Amino acid sequence: MSQQLPQNRHRADGSTRLDSYVDRYAARTQGMTASEIRALFSVASRPEVVSLAGGMPNISGLPLDVVGEAISDLVANRGSTAMQYGSGQGDPRLREQICDVMRLEGIEAHPDDVVVTVGSQQAVDLVTRIFCDPGDVVICEAPSYVGALGVFKAYQCDVVHVEMDEHGLVPSALREAIAHVQASGRRIKFVYTIPNYHNPAGVTLAAERRPEILEICREADVLVLEDNPYGLLGFDEEPHRALRADEADGVIYLGSFSKTFAPGFRVGWALAPHAVREKLVLAQESATLCPPSFSQMAVSAYLEKHDWLGQIKQFREMYRERRDAMVRALDDMMPPAARWNVPTGGFYVWLTLPDGLDAKAMLPRAVTARVAFVPGTAFFADGFGAQSMRLSYCYPTPERIREGVRRLVGVIEEEVELRHTFGTGLGAAPTPGLNRGYDGPTTDLT
Ligand SMILES: Cc1ncc(COP(=O)(O)O)c(C=O)c1O
Repeated sequence: MSQQLPQNRHRADGSTRLDSYVDRYAARTQGMTASEIRALFSVASRPEVVSLAGGMPNISGLPLDVVGEAISDLVANRGSTAMQYGSGQGDPRLREQICDVMRLEGIEAHPDDVVVTVGSQQAVDLVTRIFCDPGDVVICEAPSYVGALGVFKAYQCDVVHVEMDEHGLVPSALREAIAHVQASGRRIKFVYTIPNYHNPAGVTLAAERRPEILEICREADVLVLEDNPYGLLGFDEEPHRALRADEADGVIYLGSFSKTFAPGFRVGWALAPHAVREKLVLAQESATLCPPSFSQMAVSAYLEKHDWLGQIKQFREMYRERRDAMVRALDDMMPPAARWNVPTGGFYVWLTLPDGLDAKAMLPRAVTARVAFVPGTAFFADGFGAQSMRLSYCYPTPERIREGVRRLVGVIEEEVELRHTFGTGLGAAPTPGLNRGYDGPTTDLT
């Protein structure tokens, strides 16, 4: 029997569609679009380019011998369990250990309220899946994590951004946004927030704002989705108290081993009020049957056998050195009209360009000058952010970071010069090699 192929490959005008299945996709796929800047990153990942774009954790300091030993021990002694299906909620021993990890941020939780997920990315997906119908509102910081915005878009949510400043989400702006949306009759499903070492803004929610944010959400009967993958990566400070530590009913907390151990295991979690946890497990079962047993047991063995807190300390020192290199280079070289923050942890600096410059338009020229960043527009659902960019310092060496900033400053100075001469910004210039070859993982956008 011959397979029936879609008949709409050719249009009436004789032109050919790139995707002949286009009329068959569900409406929700309209929100699933490849980033406009994705093609550039295939060029940006070449070794001659200093990438200040990627958010990949730098795991070169991990003791691979220790991890290898733990894994071979796991295969030898518990291989038939590790390679079998497991519980939809996740490995019970790992869930206990996750509770120990969260205790560092003041959270007292029961392992029964934890659901293990495939990275915290899947937790964002599952939470959105169980709460959001098309048109429901999700409130996000401005800017916000691109991977979460992608999920909200895929579930056809309306994202409403709320202002942040150097102390994180601004409570009065949140109150106003909630009141405004509710007055318009639309339903807010949750406030999505990254309180610590924000991706991409690099800021941390001030301690005195935390109870206020919780109070605003409690009063308005709006859930908080607290996404905290960087919380243990502060440079000179103890972990901040989680929002969830002071509010068990109104907060769903997300955590991850991607930044504190290794992202390749894809192990994260959600801690949720009991009823929500039950729904999350059902959603997890329908998505994956269960999170991968092998990964969970490997993470569990690592936590059991290794000084993981000592390892996190090493990571923090390594990232602090890189943060210092970036901030020093920015201080030394950036034109005074540019502004940036000094993060106290995490991976990212948010830089705002001199007036009139457009980061996205500048990116092809920057890549030609062999430096890459992520333009601010990637972190907004509504097209804002053109004057800003995210610079990550997590991966390159301090020397490469300084060189990257030097190249970036060269590009910015040229743009400023051209603007003075012609009184306007330039459009995007074509970059040789774009759109060719590898269009692989979008890890530059984590
Ligand atoms: C704020 C934030 N949330 C969630 C994730 C997803 O991380 P993972 O799925 O690896 O746990 C990331 C990754 O960069 C992130 O920055």
